Amino acid sequence: MSERVTAGLPADFVWGAATASYQVEGAVDADGRGPSIWDTFCRQPGKVVHGHTGEVSVDQYHRYPEDVALMRELGLHRYRFSLAWPRIIPAGSGKPNSKGFDYYNRLVDTLLEAGIQPAVTLYHWDLPQPLQDQGGWPARETALRFSAYAELCFRALSDRVSNWITLNEPYCSSILGYLEGVHAPGEQNRPRAYRAIHHLLLAHGLAVQAFRDGGYPGEIGISLNTNTPRPATQRDEDRLAAERAADLPTHMFLGPVMGEGYPERHLAAYPEVSMPVETGDMELIAAPTDFLGLNWYTEDAVAADPEHPEGFRVCRQYQETTEMGWPIVPQGFYRHLRKLNELTQGIPIVVTENGCAMPDLLSADGTRCHDPGRIAYLRSHIEALRDAWRDGVNVRGYYVWTLIDNFEWAYGFTKRFGLVYCDYVNQRRIPKDSFLFFRELAAGHE
Ligand code: FCB
Repeated sequence: MSERVTAGLPADFVWGAATASYQVEGAVDADGRGPSIWDTFCRQPGKVVHGHTGEVSVDQYHRYPEDVALMRELGLHRYRFSLAWPRIIPAGSGKPNSKGFDYYNRLVDTLLEAGIQPAVTLYHWDLPQPLQDQGGWPARETALRFSAYAELCFRALSDRVSNWITLNEPYCSSILGYLEGVHAPGEQNRPRAYRAIHHLLLAHGLAVQAFRDGGYPGEIGISLNTNTPRPATQRDEDRLAAERAADLPTHMFLGPVMGEGYPERHLAAYPEVSMPVETGDMELIAAPTDFLGLNWYTEDAVAADPEHPEGFRVCRQYQETTEMGWPIVPQGFYRHLRKLNELTQGIPIVVTENGCAMPDLLSADGTRCHDPGRIAYLRSHIEALRDAWRDGVNVRGYYVWTLIDNFEWAYGFTKRFGLVYCDYVNQRRIPKDSFLFFRELAAGHE
């Protein structure tokens, strides 16, 4: 018999599943919620595949009891979800909407009754539209607004919530949202994107400060999608290219959080950019966190390319890909965990997202969804994580992305990442085979 996938992981290892408000809640007009930048973006023609929106999605806002029952069946230790800022403070700043907290109170209480710990992300991309109208993340004021919002959340929920994530992937909020324009708010402006980076990180730092100053119990961290591409060959120029390709996704975010500042080499490639750093900012951003969240899906291979401002290009790979077209490289996950452990000097690492989109189909009778590709992906990545742990990486938990199929941003509903299949026509939930696989892992009796 082959070795257990999780053999050797510590007994208190955390098994969880993750989602995000705009991707699963639906109910965008319910109970005083204000508009977010994603509501606006989805309405712009051509931005989201088939013009899909998160208006209804999997309607977790109303169906959370059923979803929590599924989580219980799945044996989850923790459920990572995000709070929708526009539900809690519809205008982004000013008067809170108590009905927003009513929903999260119900959700948290239902989770706790089911024996599942909530892990709360404060910001997973749904910025209140009024704040975008006032300048968005490129404006410093947005970071201050975020800090006030975060404090409100700590006050309302920290009697029951002890796991907090300030931001999800500020790389995507800034680079996809303000430079590439493929995410809300859809801008394409490098100087503004880099201002957004700084203000997102400042928002994180201010929230950590508010959490510490308030003496709230529990742990706080940030989820970054750092990655360290591998060189396409062992030639020196490709190795250098691979190092440089990590500057933006890894060092621009992790550097400041670890107290090392922004990577000069990267900034030097873009003279039009300047980071709007004010006195004290870098100290705030570098305040120690209790863990570092890692969201990881794939590894790029890169080669030297003198045409690129930073001297690299991403190469085609031979590996099989997921439905996203992302190469499946579990060894890259192992490599990145080792690397991250070095960079973070042993702070606990929690994998706050990992998973894959696959071409999932229901059986003819509609009762089963065979997803062997997802099981293989999860197995190989969890084995890589286990090996990294054995080799000294301080990784303490793993959240699968995601509990249930949902609104996959610019891809709308065309990509399915869930352990549970959702029939979007009637909101029927059908656990996939990978649900059964993950249940065995989480229960520790595979
Ligand atoms: C991550 C996002 C998450 C989900 C996965 C597939 O970048 O944090 O919301 O869309 O990708």
